[in-house]
Formats: sequence, structure tokens, C-alpha cells
Amino acid sequence: MNVLSVRGLTHVYGQGTSSEAVALNNCSFDIEKGELVGIIGHTGSGKSTLIQHFNGLLKPTSGQILLNGKDINESKKSSVESRFKVGLCFQYPEYQLFEETVGRDIAFGPKNMKLDEEEIKKRVLKCIEYVGLDESYLEKSPFDLSGGEKRRVAIAGVMAMEPEILVLDEPTAGLDPQGRDTVFELIRQYREKTGSTVIIVSHSMEDVARLATKALVMNKGEVAMFGTIDEVYSKADELLTMGLNVPQITRIFMELKKEGLPINGNIYTVEQGVNEIIRLKKEGYTL
Ligand SMILES: Nc1ncnc2c1ncn2[C@@H]1O[C@H](COP(=O)(O)OP(=O)(O)O)[C@@H](O)[C@H]1O
Ligand SMILES: [Mg+2]
Repeated sequence: MNVLSVRGLTHVYGQGTSSEAVALNNCSFDIEKGELVGIIGHTGSGKSTLIQHFNGLLKPTSGQILLNGKDINESKKSSVESRFKVGLCFQYPEYQLFEETVGRDIAFGPKNMKLDEEEIKKRVLKCIEYVGLDESYLEKSPFDLSGGEKRRVAIAGVMAMEPEILVLDEPTAGLDPQGRDTVFELIRQYREKTGSTVIIVSHSMEDVARLATKALVMNKGEVAMFGTIDEVYSKADELLTMGLNVPQITRIFMELKKEGLPINGNIYTVEQGVNEIIRLKKEGYTL
């Protein structure tokens, strides 16, 4: 079942002015329930503009966004509902933390949904755990936390709305490698536990390969590719023309394959590469 369908979506900023810019041009695709989609694309390709349509924050210049088959811009009511059904976490979300305590910050979304106190409390406790922090954090000021912790609290605040679709715009931007791995692992676990659909914007092709079930490639405001990781990443040359590089490890193994080594499938991560080398050695190949 498609949880989200985008139909002929076009978005023009500043229409009719001298600074008119077509950010999205006739984009169409369907996302199935439970999928983890990685949106990749060069800076300025329209990724952020695209995802801000998913919860009605931006309105299409033309085209439609369907949530469970229903146009979210059809009425005021469906538009408001989409705000809660699609949880959008902006890039650098920690800049939007403003409450006195971490607990209150996470509770902000659920409060807006007019849930009762008990339900809010339950969700806050669950979500602080989802992001790998313990209860002792709830009484702290968000401003006393490290950068990585702030980011996790901000993500917990969106998770607490229990959205059908969790959308994250570059959730690991500006984090060190360890912080990045932690955030990705938490997102992976969240999806496993909740079965939610997750959409992640990322400029790291390796991270998307590691995490996502499907990749959507944006190029100059258009959907250039959408498919499984294998389908998309096998078009390395085409991706290169869009300013995207498949992971170096993938290139190395593609070249080895061309040289005649019987490489199994495609290799996207260092771990997969190591396992493949071990397998080849066991089969008697010298590398
Ligand atoms: N608020 C805005 N006003 C005018 N143009 C914008 C605005 N936001 C983005 N753009 C333009 O729209 C295009 C797509 O931007 P964006 O969606 O931010 O891309 P990405 O997230 O892939 O970097 C770019 O050309 C950008 O300059
Ligand atoms: Mg962006």
C-alpha cells in the first residue's frame, strides 16, 4: 500500500517576481508503507523543498501530495492532519529547541496534538529512550547538552508525535563520525520497533546504502531515479553527471568485477567489502 504519493509536483519560488525559481518540476513517485527511503541529490536539487510538501508546510504550485490516497491540500482539515501524520525534522533541528527542559521540549508536539497528560508523559519517556538517552535528561536544560545530544532530543520531539511517516532532513549534518553512526543506528532501530515509514535526506551515498531500502535521486528539481539501492547505485556513471559519487568501495569492486573477479552483487560498505574479500580468499582467489 502506498502511504505517500507525489503526483506531478511542481514548486516555483517567488512566482511572477524577478527572482522566480523553479525548485521542483513535475515530480511523481509512490512510497510504500514501512519503507526507508533515502533522498539524495546535489545541493540545490530540491530535496528540502520536496519534503516540506509532505506535511503541507509548502503548497504545490501544481500537483498533489496524497497521504494514504487522500490529497492533503484538499481541505483545511486534511492539511492540519498531515502536520501530525507526517513528522518533519528540519536540518539542524536543535536550533528549534526552546523549552526550559528536555522533557518539555519533547512534549511540545504531543501537547499541540491536544493529547492528555498521561499519554504525553508516556510518549516522552518512550522517545527519550528511542534516542538512546535516559530519564535523567528530562529535567536538564537542552542548552546544557552536547551537540549530538541536542540533535537527538530534537528528533525525539518529532518521534513523540508518533507520525505515520518520519521525515528527516540531513539528520547527521555537522555531527562527527561517531555522532553520525549513533543517529543512524537510532533511526534504524526506531523503524524496526515502530514499523513506521521513514524518509531521510542525505548527501552521503554510503549512509543511504547502509540504511535505506530505496533511494530517490533528485537532480535539478526533477526525480532522476527511484529504485532499490542496487538499481540506483549500479548507474554510477549517470550519477556522476549529477554530481553524485557512488561510495569509493563500490567503485573499487566494480573495477575488480570488470577485471574478471567473480564479485557477488554490489558492494556499498566497507563491511560488505571485507566479507566479500574473505569469501573470495576462501574460494582460492588471490587478491
Ligand atoms: N525560500 C526560498 N526562496 C527562493 N528560492 C529558494 C528557497 N528555498 C530554496 N530555494 C531554491 O530552490 C532550489 C532548491 O533548493 P532546496 O530545496 O533547498 O535544495 P536542496 O535541499 O537539495 O539543497 C535552489 O535553487 C534554491 O536556491
Ligand atoms: Mg536541503
